[in-house]
Amino acid sequence: MAKTIIISNRLPVQLQIDNGSISAIPSVGGLATGMKSVHSEGESLWIGWSGLTEEEIPEDLEDDIDAALAEHGSSKVKLTAEEVDGFYYGFSNRTIWPLFHYFLEYSEFELASWETYKAVNQKFADAILEKADKDDIIWVHDYQLMLVPRMVREKRPETSIGFFLHIPFPSFEIFRTLPWRAEVLSGLLGSDLIGFHTYDYERHFLSSIRRILGLEVSFNDIYLDDRIVKVDSFPMGIDYAKFSEAAKTHQSLPKKEQSELQRRLNKHKESTPDAKFLLSIDRLDYSKGIAKRLNAYEYFLNKYPQYKEKVRLIILAVPSRSNVPQYQLLKKEIDELVGRINGELATVSWTPIWYFYRSMPFENLIDLYTSCDIAWLTPIRDGMNLVAKEYIATRTDKTGVLILSEMAGSANEMNEALLINPNNFEQIADTIHRAIQMPPKEQKSRNDVLQKRLERYNVEKWANDFMRSLTDQRDKDPAYVTR
Ligand code: ADP
Ligand code: F6P
Repeated sequence: MAKTIIISNRLPVQLQIDNGSISAIPSVGGLATGMKSVHSEGESLWIGWSGLTEEEIPEDLEDDIDAALAEHGSSKVKLTAEEVDGFYYGFSNRTIWPLFHYFLEYSEFELASWETYKAVNQKFADAILEKADKDDIIWVHDYQLMLVPRMVREKRPETSIGFFLHIPFPSFEIFRTLPWRAEVLSGLLGSDLIGFHTYDYERHFLSSIRRILGLEVSFNDIYLDDRIVKVDSFPMGIDYAKFSEAAKTHQSLPKKEQSELQRRLNKHKESTPDAKFLLSIDRLDYSKGIAKRLNAYEYFLNKYPQYKEKVRLIILAVPSRSNVPQYQLLKKEIDELVGRINGELATVSWTPIWYFYRSMPFENLIDLYTSCDIAWLTPIRDGMNLVAKEYIATRTDKTGVLILSEMAGSANEMNEALLINPNNFEQIADTIHRAIQMPPKEQKSRNDVLQKRLERYNVEKWANDFMRSLTDQRDKDPAYVTR
């Protein structure tokens, strides 16, 4: 039977070796959490990097590593430390990531890391060619693998290849600064279908196709000599049932089975009944606007001092890409900001910010989502932002307010949230005040609409829509029809 081959840099789990024993840790990030739900549904093989470099895998553990990945329906692409450095920390996260998030000043254009990116993309393409049967559908994910579609197409012209970008596609004026812009576009055009989270990213991409490659574009079709490539937007959803069920189960837990975190949250709520928890959860990434958020929080507390000792900001920042200098600097900046704000404003009974720098188990994420009155997410740019959707899905009694940056892809589908510009501190302060004061009836009517929408367009629907569109496209492809 034909299967779907999912290819991404991250696998659903990251492997670690400790004293000769292998452990699998769930991967963090929208791509991994979203695709995981789709992957476990049906017949698919997931190809990616295990999280360990070749140098870290002793020869006698090779088979055990393969077996550990097979348990998650996955297979690995082997990468050396040097390749991870040039491909992942280098071109992917020091060139493309900042550029596509409009942090042009952080983008480094280095020939050596581009060369490594090309070589590693070829490795991924080779792994696909080795594992894929003739009728298998290939689904390539994200900015780390933009050359893979063409590399596979060159060897297997009749194969059905889809590509989905999980981050924004920038405007032409930004994208054109990339020295290898034509190669990247041409790599993507090996696909039959290219998907984006939003219509704007799709529009930016088509504009670059026209202006850089001079190709004919009609509506969302790109005309090549021998094929048509379709471009469309598919806003990624979440596994709605998983989050809402987890929240229901969590709320019915007897006290003694609650987590330590939940007990502490309860204790604080009981001691200050009119206290409000504001929550933000992100990977520690400059695109998420965490430092700005901290400054905005201080601004809010100064503008509305009546909330001092009442409001608490819980920040959960997950360590990410810590070998990249910008991330190290940001970590330092956030540590200092949290220390300064807490130092200046704290009282004996109140700490304005609780800051966690770690990954947390799923149960603790649910503790936070269900206990916090307001979720406050302020990315400066974000392809989608699934945390916003997860928060709403866990609000089983429909209370809770979402304050969301209009720069997040998810803002397009979440108009009932309180949308803010992350640079406008005045607006943010007033919006937090409004969120705190919002009557439960209004919270419920907003969340009711949001929940219905998220439940309807969940991650399974998203994946099915993409796959349906891809197979429709394949059936129109002359190379496929006449093979
Ligand atoms: P990005 O893909 O840029 O990291 P998203 O908000 O789209 O941002 O996705 C983040 C995903 O990572 C969510 O599914 C969220 O549940 C998960 N996640 C975030 N923080 C943690 C954490 N501390 N521990 C475990 N999972 C987390
Ligand atoms: O979902 C967006 C995303 O950028 C993925 O592409 C990426 O895998 C994830 O966030 C987390 O980043 P990383 O894989 O570098 O840890």
